[in-house]
Amino acid sequence: MKKIFAANWKLFKTPQETRDFFSTFKDLANKATGEIVFFPSAISLEAASSSLKGSNIKWGAQNCFAQASGAFTGENSAQVVKDLGGSYILVGHSERRKIFGETDALIAEKVAHIQSLGLIPMLCIGETLEEREGKHTFRILETQLLLGLANADKSKPVVIAYEPVWAIGTGKVASPEQVAETHADVYSILEKMGFAQSPILYGGSVKPDNAKGLAALPHVSGFLVGGASLEPKSFSEIASV
Ligand code: 13P
Repeated sequence: MKKIFAANWKLFKTPQETRDFFSTFKDLANKATGEIVFFPSAISLEAASSSLKGSNIKWGAQNCFAQASGAFTGENSAQVVKDLGGSYILVGHSERRKIFGETDALIAEKVAHIQSLGLIPMLCIGETLEEREGKHTFRILETQLLLGLANADKSKPVVIAYEPVWAIGTGKVASPEQVAETHADVYSILEKMGFAQSPILYGGSVKPDNAKGLAALPHVSGFLVGGASLEPKSFSEIASV
């Protein structure tokens, strides 16, 4: 399976910084060994769309509402992402769950809505440090998958991003043993649910110096990268492993 290297820019980069990034990155991307996907912040999506027109680099939004339009002040529309040429939408990132109170039920509605438009949801799951230390990781991930994919269409693509909350932005990457064990667990849950085809990305302090080892592990189909995706050089190194 072709790997996926995804960049979550969170609330960084203006439209001009987005254009500047791509003018450097497009040349570096020739060495990529898989599909590349960028998730710029909402107001920079149009800059990404026009910068990436005609390239094979994909992009999408970090979030959307579960309906295409209506009286939903401040929300983003997946239909608009589609009209601008986007392919993916991130759903259920731990920052959305924790800071913005997103529930598994809302996440499930978003997944179904995104699929209904022909876009690909990238569903983020992950346990906190407390949950890992309490040995609840399997149960937490299973619950997030069962509820988050409750309305998903098995015949349409969905990508899973396993991001242990304690490894996000902390510099504390999960060990190869932890990643291998947890990705095998996630795969076994997905297989039972009928989603065995879904790629499983790892996210959490992925850097050029740890990407190669992690990419070689079974059931690691690529990465979702935060901090190290903000520089063209470091992200292109990760995408070339
Ligand atoms: P970092 O790579 O900065 O740890 O962020 C991971 C992440 O949250 C990607 O969605």
